[in-house]
Amino acid sequence: MTDKISQDRVLIFDTTLRDGEQSPGATMTHEEKLEIAEMLDDMGVDIIEAGFPIASEGDFRAVSEIAQRSKNSVICGLARANAKDIDRCFEAVRNAERPRIHTFIGTSPLHRQIPNLTMDEMADLIDETVTHARNLCENVQWSPMDATRTEWDYLCRVIEIAIKAGASTINIPDTVGYTAPVESADLIKRLIDTVPGADEVIFATHCHNDLGMATANSLAAVAGGARQIECTINGLGERAGNTALEEVVMAMKTRHDIMPWHTGIDTTKIMAISRRVATVSGFAVQFNKAIVGKNAFAHESGIHQDGMLKNPENFEIMRPEDIGLSGTSLPLGKHSGRAALRDKLEHLGFDIGDNQLKDLFVRFKDLADRKKEVFDDDIVALMRVGESEENDALKLVTLRVVCGTGGPADATLVMSINGDEKTAIEKGDGPVDAAFRAIRKLHPNTAHLELYQVHAVTEGTDAQATVSVRLEEGGNIATGQSADTDTVVASAKAYIHALNRLLVRRDKLGQDEKEISYRDMT
Ligand code: KIV
Ligand code: ZN
Repeated sequence: MTDKISQDRVLIFDTTLRDGEQSPGATMTHEEKLEIAEMLDDMGVDIIEAGFPIASEGDFRAVSEIAQRSKNSVICGLARANAKDIDRCFEAVRNAERPRIHTFIGTSPLHRQIPNLTMDEMADLIDETVTHARNLCENVQWSPMDATRTEWDYLCRVIEIAIKAGASTINIPDTVGYTAPVESADLIKRLIDTVPGADEVIFATHCHNDLGMATANSLAAVAGGARQIECTINGLGERAGNTALEEVVMAMKTRHDIMPWHTGIDTTKIMAISRRVATVSGFAVQFNKAIVGKNAFAHESGIHQDGMLKNPENFEIMRPEDIGLSGTSLPLGKHSGRAALRDKLEHLGFDIGDNQLKDLFVRFKDLADRKKEVFDDDIVALMRVGESEENDALKLVTLRVVCGTGGPADATLVMSINGDEKTAIEKGDGPVDAAFRAIRKLHPNTAHLELYQVHAVTEGTDAQATVSVRLEEGGNIATGQSADTDTVVASAKAYIHALNRLLVRRDKLGQDEKEISYRDMT
């Protein structure tokens, strides 16, 4: 895309696989990244930032494969301001139908201290690196990181240099989520009015949500003249996250009267990708999250229900179907067959292959045997958490826990380790603690438990529990998830899932190696 677009078209640049995935604990596997990229491409995302190729072999492989498989989207990789990063980035994206290099450097007073460059030295470096990127690739994006805290004159100066050196997109990051809507609009407008050559390029906005204003700031930037919004699915991202794709897209669609811009996004695909990103990243969506939260379209109070029945428009400003949510449907039960399950999955926005359906059907039957009615949310939970994979080193075989008042719990756990079944009996302060101790006895490790979270999927005492476990070991972080009607079993499986992911990461990186984060840079 040589980025000249109609005045009311806003490009959607999704960075779930780069800025989102950099969020501690949100790491995705290679296959998961490919799957998310395919979904983004399918839903009409204009530019996919697929990763940071110099960060690790894994990132490089993911970006290259996403580039090769891309259909419509521009595939972009991130690079710091040096030739080695930029070369590696281009090597990864070059096979895309439409590749882009995104190079950046921190330009604010605080960020300038990191590489310890004077203003003039940094300006020269920007000229050199953007020119280098442009010599490799026709489509170059440049970002002055922490733009919203960069001195006005210097910001104008470096943007002019980047444009002259050949950048066709200038991204204005609010790296620490510091700006506010009026300022965001004003900044973009003044830059476009002031910087020579600004009307020849696309201005992008990249907001973080530290003050809860990322969506408002992004839309305000568009009002100021930006024509590319950088965002992530579910607002995934470091700290309070990035601008949520679903929020900006639905805001422009719903309030087109006052925000007269459009995107190329097929909004009916929002729900399915939101669920998939929640699953693979391990970051559950908060119930009251705008657009994709479980309660976003639920009208619980009596007054609302009455009004809704009379006319849905009384309380709904969007239709659930617009984001791919169908109305409530009948629960499944133990007599439901494979066709009914497939039908239900399609209804919920999941498009799965025959093998995945086969695996899911076994788990659905198992659940239906234990639970009278299997609701939509149960099916979503089954989809969210895959059982242990064929090639996982660690697998739970059986778990029995005896617990009660007045004493420790006793867990007897059988786990398969690379195919060998081993048993451990451990006591603990409650059933989950006992089960985790037994797992650690069989697979000694130094991983630190960062998060243990339990959610009931539906109401009732036979409800499934979904459990998330986040572990940290030597700087690597992995999240495991599982669901079961037995909370202790779900907990043990989630713990084992996280341990398997840590093992994969350790193999991938080498024992002590850690991925470079773009924050360890410049
Ligand atoms: O937040 C930020 O500044 C970034 C840049 C790398 C664009 O993510
Ligand atoms: Zn960012």
